[in-house]
Parts: sequence; structure tokens; C-alpha cells
Amino acid sequence: MRKLWGGRFEGATDALIEKLNNSLPFDCRLWSQDIEGSLAHVQMLGSTGIITTEEAEQIAAGLCSIREELQTGALSLPPDAEDVHTAVEGLLRERIGPLAGKLHTARSRNDQVATDIRLYLREAADSLNAHLLHLQSVLLQLAKQEIDTILPGTTHLQHAQPVLLAHHLMAYFWMLERDRERLADCRKRINRSPLGACALAGTGFPINRQQTARQLGFEQVLPNSIDAVSDRDYALELLSVCTILGVHLSRLAEEVILWNSPEYGYIELDDSVTTGSSIMPQKKNPDVAELLRGKTGRIAGSLITLITVMKGLPLAYNKDMQEDKEPLFDALDTLELLLPAAARMLNTAKFRRERMLQATSGDFSTATDLADFLVRCGLTFRDAHDLVGSVVQQCIKQGKGLEQLDADALLAIAPQLGANAAEAAALLKPSASAASRTSEGGTAKQAVLQQIKLAEEKLQV
Ligand code: ARG
Repeated sequence: MRKLWGGRFEGATDALIEKLNNSLPFDCRLWSQDIEGSLAHVQMLGSTGIITTEEAEQIAAGLCSIREELQTGALSLPPDAEDVHTAVEGLLRERIGPLAGKLHTARSRNDQVATDIRLYLREAADSLNAHLLHLQSVLLQLAKQEIDTILPGTTHLQHAQPVLLAHHLMAYFWMLERDRERLADCRKRINRSPLGACALAGTGFPINRQQTARQLGFEQVLPNSIDAVSDRDYALELLSVCTILGVHLSRLAEEVILWNSPEYGYIELDDSVTTGSSIMPQKKNPDVAELLRGKTGRIAGSLITLITVMKGLPLAYNKDMQEDKEPLFDALDTLELLLPAAARMLNTAKFRRERMLQATSGDFSTATDLADFLVRCGLTFRDAHDLVGSVVQQCIKQGKGLEQLDADALLAIAPQLGANAAEAAALLKPSASAASRTSEGGTAKQAVLQQIKLAEEKLQV
């Protein structure tokens, strides 16, 4: 295929160098954004009189018919083209002849590629947002369903205090809500137009950048042509958002893996989202969760790749920046798979409420409740902490859980409780403990219902 820059060259490019240089194998997926950008550009060329309106119409008609045929598969991009821009222009020349050469007036591939990527990322951000909303709605649904389920909340992976499963699940809801906020914020900076920056310095042709920006749905025009073609910070931002989101998914995945193990037995993953072993017939492996956890590595890797590419680059465009696409596409493709997979995994899981409750028995996770109670009876928190520590020690010696102590047993260990022993004993049940934590954002049922109400408002878009 004819090169866009062949004029000053006598010799042909080495085949190996061509392989290194060409980006079509991966930028081919930008073809529809490339045509969209070209359509806006050519209309502007026509309406500003840079080319005649008849020429603009012919070029636009050619581009539209190419778009249609690429969509249906009747046409494909010429595989030997250097990049997607060359490929589309080549198809246009085949279709409308030398007039195709006017399309690139007052434009460079530098502003063209930046425009294409921004259009692509804008769509990708909207798609991620939709997937996130779906996963959030699954979490919300589960939280409502499990509003009375109690499990041991942990710190250091040690039983800490009983919490509602709904509360635990909603923690992930809010992580994803912040991921959506970050995404929306980053989208604002993606949605600005570099078109018309040309190679780096703008152009002497009387172009109208506001017009192309408006037509492409960009919110504003980037005010500096050098900056417009040379930065990829919006791509880095999106990759950062993706990485943080990946980290959130990996934490959820890790808990699912633990909870699905026989040692925990808190959940049972459905056959449709698990796989077997080729040697051990009894196995049912949580591969989906493991891939959610594992693929976070490649998303973070994509961020590191592009941030390293950009570091120290002089202004303006450098070919290094062609390396922006593969990490972006890989991270976005990965999340397009992971987010619905996570939703399906949770949607089909069975939550084993009795196992969760059983796990709280004998785990001393209501010890803080007893200490808090003693504080209300007038002890300092330090003294209360010491006293409860000795109660726990006695229980361990007697092979009993805290919740098994009745008023008399409690009084025998902690005579300081006096007339309050019965009330204290009642607090030692996990359900009573959870119910008592009524502070805003706490684990008591009313508090969790309150946050569920807030969450529902967030989903009403
Ligand atoms: N394939 C190139 C890229 O993705 C397009 C821009 C080429 N510009 C240039 N001056 N060689 O970055």
C-alpha cells in the first residue's frame, strides 16, 4: 500500500523495520473513530471554504460508504497499510480517486490519532461505567437479601467483631462507587478536542476547531496545539482508574476464594462459574475469582508500561507514543471481561448463613461489647479492657465461648459487674453485638438500611 510520506524517499523500507513500525495490527480497531474524526474534519474543510462543498460532500460520501462496508464486513482494511489512518485514506483513494488526497489538508496524523484515541476512550469509559453499575446493583441486591446474616468481621484476618454480611458486601459497593466517580472525572479530561492542532504548531488554513469539537461531542478545544498532540495524561488517568478498580476486584475475589474454601464454607460458587481438575475428580475450583485476582497484575502492568513510555519524552509527538494503544486496549478488554464475570459469580453464589453464624461462636468477637458495657458502668476503657481480657482467659481455660456465659457464670469471673451481670450477658450474643452498633455507617441493621438507601440513590441515574 502507498505510504503517506513516500515522496522524499528513494529506497524502500526494510521489511523488518516495517514490521516494527506498523501499528495497523493493533490500531485497526480505531477505524470507526478514525472515520468519525475524518467526517467532522472534512465537513469543516467544506464549510470554511478550504475545499469546495462539493469536494467535501464527495469525500464524506466516500467515507460513509466505506464505514458501512467495514461494518457489514463487505470490506476490510488493507493489511499492508502502515496504520489505520493510512488504511482508511487508501480505501478512500480507491473509491473516489485523487480527491481523497484533499482530506488530509490542515491535519496531521498526530492530531488525528489523538482524536481517535480520545473518541475510543470516551466510549470505553461509558461502557465501564455501565458494567460497574451492574456489578453495584448485584451487590446491592445481595445486601438486601442478606440483611439479617451475621458473620465474623475480621482485622488481620482474625475474628474481630460480628458484622452483617450486607454491611460487608456494601463496602465493595462504595469502592465501586468511587471508581465510577473517578471514571466520570477522568472522562471530562478525555472529552476535549486535539483536532486542528495538526503536527504540533497549528495551521495557516482558516480551520474552525470549535466546529469539529462540537460535531464530535467534545466539551472543549484543547488550547495549546503542542500539548494537544503530545500528552497522553488522559490515557494514564484512565489506566489509573482501571488499576484501582482492578485492585478492588482482586480484594473481593480473594475473599470469595477464602469463603468458598472448605475451611470457611461461607459461600458455595455455582457450577457455571467454577472449573474442575484434570486429575482430582473431587475438585471444584474458583477460577473466576482467581482470574479476577490475577488479571489485576496485567492492568497495573499496563499503567506502568504507559507511564514509563511517557516519562522524559520531549515535546511534541514522538513515535514512542504509538505504544499507548496496546496497554490501553488490554486493560480495557480485561475489565470488559472481568466486571460481568464478577457479577455473574456473585449473582449465582449460595451464601451459607448457618456457617457464617457458626463461625462467630466461641470466637470472642463480642469482647469489645463487654468492655464497652463496663465503660458505661463507670470503668475506664483501660480497666474494662483488662477485666474483659481476664474473662476471655477464664473462658479459654474452661473451653467456653463468651456467648455461652450466663449472668451467674459472668459474675463468677467478674464480680465487679454486680447487678449488671444479666444485662452484660445478653450483650455477648453476636446478634446483640451487631445490633448495638448503630453509629452512622455502622453494622446495626438500621444503619446498614440507611446506607442501602443512600446507595439506591446513587444508582438512580
Ligand atoms: N501510528 C501512529 C501512532 O499511533 C500515528 C501517528 C503517526 N505520526 C507520525 N508523525 N508518524 O502514534
